[in-house]
Amino acid sequence: MKLSRTVENMIGSEILKISGEAKERILRGESIYNLTVGDFNPEIFPIPEKLSERIIHYYKEHRTNYPAANGELNLRNSLAELFLKDTGINYDPEEIIIGAGGRPLLYSVFESILDAGDGVIYPVPSWNNEHYCILTNAKSFIIETKAEDHFMPSAEDMRPFLKEANIIALNSPLNPSGTIITKEALTEICEMVLEENHRRGKNAKPLFLVYDQIYSYLIHGDQEHYTPISIFPEMKEYTVIIDGISKWLAGTGVRVGWALGPKPLMAKIKTFLGHVGAWAAKPEQLAVADFLHDKEFGIYLNEFNKRINSRLDGFYDVFSNLKKEGYPVDVIAPQAAIYLTVKLDLIGAKKEDGSKLNTVEEVFGYILNEAKIALVPFYAFGASKSLPWFRLSIGTTRSEDIKIINDQLKSALDKLSYS
Ligand SMILES: Cc1ncc(COP(=O)(O)O)c(C=O)c1O
Repeated sequence: MKLSRTVENMIGSEILKISGEAKERILRGESIYNLTVGDFNPEIFPIPEKLSERIIHYYKEHRTNYPAANGELNLRNSLAELFLKDTGINYDPEEIIIGAGGRPLLYSVFESILDAGDGVIYPVPSWNNEHYCILTNAKSFIIETKAEDHFMPSAEDMRPFLKEANIIALNSPLNPSGTIITKEALTEICEMVLEENHRRGKNAKPLFLVYDQIYSYLIHGDQEHYTPISIFPEMKEYTVIIDGISKWLAGTGVRVGWALGPKPLMAKIKTFLGHVGAWAAKPEQLAVADFLHDKEFGIYLNEFNKRINSRLDGFYDVFSNLKKEGYPVDVIAPQAAIYLTVKLDLIGAKKEDGSKLNTVEEVFGYILNEAKIALVPFYAFGASKSLPWFRLSIGTTRSEDIKIINDQLKSALDKLSYS
């Protein structure tokens, strides 16, 4: 069937393809630890009880007509208060827009800023930037990041593409690595964005920093999360912040997200999003506004972080110990989000049948078949096909699973020969 060039160019999510394979095998009755999904098992990690109560309350109150086009004012006010408390920076409710999760907002931001052929600078591995570039016919300037930099890019990496770009897309804490951009690196990037916009002057289309912080409240230990605006208040004019409850209130299916940005851009996004109708449901918006004021919010976040971090620490110990024992694995210490970055350096290892593991894909298949563990290779996030790093998500893990996963992994590694 002949369809539009845009949809013909569209590619499905590699991550969903990989997690789909694990899910299919689980449905066929295989016992597999599916550590691929950027989602939660709601039986292990439910949304806050109080939030469900408030959502049901607003349905019972029949608050079910159209929400305000840019989001319910209650929620935008609550978000402005929260942002002020966290960063010391004031946002007017007109500088905030609510959508059905982070995705429609990210897409609207790309659509509202970019003309066909405009440039987007983004690092890999990262989540979904490639697809938003395809959908908007943008030109991608891709920065390949390294494990030693915790898979974060630097200003210097980006500088060669600056003049041709209208968006730098950054995500911190980062999906897939669960790492946080350092204050120094973010400072240098902001300085560069300010300098470039100064050079362009007021009549040219600006260079925006789209800063996706959807994991902003899922922080490990004494790590710190930074926003561009708290480093340089002048960045407010060029920054779009994306956030939402999908990850830090475990509400991936509740669909409430938001963007904070300069008023003229937010006004256009309001119109764009209005035509698409990708608003968050009104009862959910009102309930989130209430919940952000509730004392349960802080209590929930505290407890939620504890439970996530104990799993990240548990898996970190598994991989650190295997490394100490001489297995060809590695791991980056957890910093944030629900992800751990693990390395399975198994290319060239020989299986029991004498054949060798030749590609990262084969390593993924071996670990799935022999250890019954599904991870996502970083190539699914746009990194090189030969990079032996994987994302491990703890969103479906029960504490007691960690020991079993350790034993199954070790036994699969023991079946390989490495000479
Ligand atoms: C970095 C990042 N941004 C945005 C999103 C989208 O979130 P939502 O489910 O709210 O659309 C995700 C989801 O996985 C994500 O990992």
